[in-house]
Amino acid sequence: MTIRIIQVGMGVRGEQWAQVIREDPRTENVAYVRNRVDLAKQTLKEWGEHDVPCYATLEEAFAHVKADAVVLVTPPEVHHEQTLTAFKHGCHVLCEKPLSEVLSESIDMVQKAEEYGLKLMVGHNFRYLSSSQMLRKLIKEQSYGEAGFGHFAYIRNRDGNRKDLNKYPLVMDQPMLLEQSVHHLDLMRYCYDQEVVSVQADTWRPSWSTYRDDCCVSALLEFENGFRANYLGTWTSGWNRFCFEWRTDCSEGVIIQKQQFEDLNGAKLTPGLALEGERFKVGEDVEPLHEISLAPCEAFVDDTRLMITEFLDAIEFGKPLITSGKDHLKTLGLTLACVEASKTGKKVIMKDFYQRQGIPESWI
Ligand SMILES: NC(=O)c1ccc[n+]([C@@H]2O[C@H](COP(=O)([O-])OP(=O)(O)OC[C@H]3O[C@@H](n4cnc5c(N)ncnc54)[C@H](O)[C@@H]3O)[C@@H](O)[C@H]2O)c1
Repeated sequence: MTIRIIQVGMGVRGEQWAQVIREDPRTENVAYVRNRVDLAKQTLKEWGEHDVPCYATLEEAFAHVKADAVVLVTPPEVHHEQTLTAFKHGCHVLCEKPLSEVLSESIDMVQKAEEYGLKLMVGHNFRYLSSSQMLRKLIKEQSYGEAGFGHFAYIRNRDGNRKDLNKYPLVMDQPMLLEQSVHHLDLMRYCYDQEVVSVQADTWRPSWSTYRDDCCVSALLEFENGFRANYLGTWTSGWNRFCFEWRTDCSEGVIIQKQQFEDLNGAKLTPGLALEGERFKVGEDVEPLHEISLAPCEAFVDDTRLMITEFLDAIEFGKPLITSGKDHLKTLGLTLACVEASKTGKKVIMKDFYQRQGIPESWI
């Protein structure tokens, strides 16, 4: 079965999507939609594609081509409207994250997917990286014992004016949280395989930031099993060296991911070692950190391939969607709970937050 796809949006992420759809033997890109058709045609040439028609709106595309699914790679503010248009035309939707910046719109998208009996998946491709799959496995199998706490740091000097970066985050509310931290919060939910029960958080804007709104996020998450994770994420820093570290301390060792998409390492805790030698151990007497072997994986491409496979299997064989719109509500909810915690200065209890936002209890 060939699944005919209309791709909406041809920006930075759109190029990666076009490649994945073009190369997947089960899909065919039947149309592109971009609000500027002249630019769409020009971009298509640059991508080496010539025969695919381009339209300015999704409605216009539906008037000319038949499709089974729509991939939305547009700015989040138009995801709601475009998803409903796709559903109206009987198409399944794979929408880039976040579903929407507004939780009520995202809830509506999930509700409409249920009403129409169509699939709604969200672009959390980083779940499908080899490093994420391995970390999830190690945590699940308790290879390093029981997980006690995590520390996730993402410190990047991302100048929003750079030519090859999307521009809408420059002026949107909470760009870091909604565009970037949403991935990190999702990864923690996914890899730790636990839901967050409460959130304490603060967000702010350093004076030299290129973003209008807050681009620093600090959060403390408490998970169902008592596990805590501390998160620091920023797009404005005082050094251009990108710093990524995701460390998980467990009862029998530690797992440290040193690079954004790879470089996973582990060390086994030696019982009794803390009773001997240096009080502050930094040298040879520390347990060695070993690299954990990972399957090769090109970020943004191979992970997206695995993600679309899940989407196609759900359409073709009725397999359950893991990275569904419904699941995303818990990640997006967490993201917006960070905003609430920052604004009120109070710890947010997620159960109460979901209730206040009108997310049905059966979805949580
Ligand atoms: N999952 C990931 O790894 C990842 C990475 C980057 C971006 N994203 C997400 O992808 C989405 C797009 O991001 P981007 O970086 O490609 O943005 P971008 O600004 O580079 O591209 C957006 C595209 O949408 C088009 N567009 C805008 N409004 C439109 C409309 N109303 N109708 C049709 N086309 C319209 C623009 O012309 C452009 O082609 C966002 O939701 C973003 O969060 C995901």
